[in-house]
Amino acid sequence: MTFVARDTLGRPLRDLRISVTDRCNFRCTYCMPKEVFGRDFHFVPAAELLTFEEIERLAGIFSRLGVEKIRLTGGEPLLRRDIEKLVAMLARLPGIRDLTLTTNGALLARKAAALAAAGLRRISVSLDSLDDTVFRAMNDVDFPVDRVLEGIAAAQRAGLSPLKVNVVVKRGVNEHTLVDMARYFQHTGCILRFIEYMDVGTTNGWRLDEVVPADEIVARINERLPLEALEPNYRGEVARRYRYRDGSGEIGVIASVTQPFCGDCTRARLSSDGRLYTCLFAATGYDVRALLRGGQTDADIGAALQRVWSRRADRYSEIRSEQTGRLPKVEMSRIGG
Ligand code: GTP
Ligand code: 5AD
Ligand code: SF4
Ligand code: SF4
Repeated sequence: MTFVARDTLGRPLRDLRISVTDRCNFRCTYCMPKEVFGRDFHFVPAAELLTFEEIERLAGIFSRLGVEKIRLTGGEPLLRRDIEKLVAMLARLPGIRDLTLTTNGALLARKAAALAAAGLRRISVSLDSLDDTVFRAMNDVDFPVDRVLEGIAAAQRAGLSPLKVNVVVKRGVNEHTLVDMARYFQHTGCILRFIEYMDVGTTNGWRLDEVVPADEIVARINERLPLEALEPNYRGEVARRYRYRDGSGEIGVIASVTQPFCGDCTRARLSSDGRLYTCLFAATGYDVRALLRGGQTDADIGAALQRVWSRRADRYSEIRSEQTGRLPKVEMSRIGG
């Protein structure tokens, strides 16, 4: 029996984003700045990570509360050893109709075929620029564009489709390379999504004047490559969609700063150490691992999760202000994009 949990604003629980590791092989300046995530940074120790069996069990419990869609994230999820085994376990769950993964693409050339064989249907790859100098500076580990493109090609060969390419846009950093990206991915079947730089976490030194509003991004692309708006694929879709008028493809913008979409937010996030966060900007999470390891039954855990969701009132992006910006917040590398 599925019981759809609803929060204080009537929003159902539909999506679960599972972070399988808080580690990453990149140090994107907007996510894991080197000065903070350096040699001395304390990542989650192995014994504190949820095991694949624990994740599978929880995903089953969540699906009975209404979750239909699961996204694996990190950190960088492909750093978790044998991640394709977890994909296979989740792909078998009856209630899950959409299973996908967000990766930086560094290990994708090696992993794409195994992921597809395990039952992954589609994938999102983060790539902030095709300009090698700009990209190397943004990932801050001098990682070349070409290797991410090889990963994207491998994912396409493996049939992971539609493939989405996520671009975080920062004023003065990669904004001058957006039209080139749009041109490159036209006719490839890949859907480009430009994401407004957000004030997630507390370490990236976010400033409003570094955000390029989605409307400006759309206008700039439209000047060179005429666009028309598309209807959302489903209610609450995070990206606003556009197609090229010449039929050569689709793009999207994610305007979480200038046009927040909390009203339809059906997303819960599970950190790699088993805490449940009901908002990307939450300060604290609910310790589900303690329940799992404390011998509670599925029914007990389901009831506890439902209680957490039923109390949820989060709508951070809608109420963002000077004050909220200074509140403590979990880092994105802990709970995933
Ligand atoms: P699809 O399932 O392919 O439609 O993906 P999605 O709409 O869930 O988007 P995706 O998971 O690829 O998220 C893309 C980016 O949107 C993330 O990296 C975040 O930057 C942003 N984003 C996703 N979900 C949220 C959210 O709940 N709140 C906010 N503020 N931003 C979000
Ligand atoms: N603002 C917007 N998007 C972000 N991501 C990470 N940090 C931020 C931020 N500060 C995105 C990455 C990737 C996903 C994991 O989250 O680009 O697509
Ligand atoms: Fe790693 Fe993704 Fe964060 Fe970049 S945005 S540091 S690739 S988790
Ligand atoms: Fe959902 Fe929080 Fe993002 Fe709003 S800010 S869309 S409530 S995760």
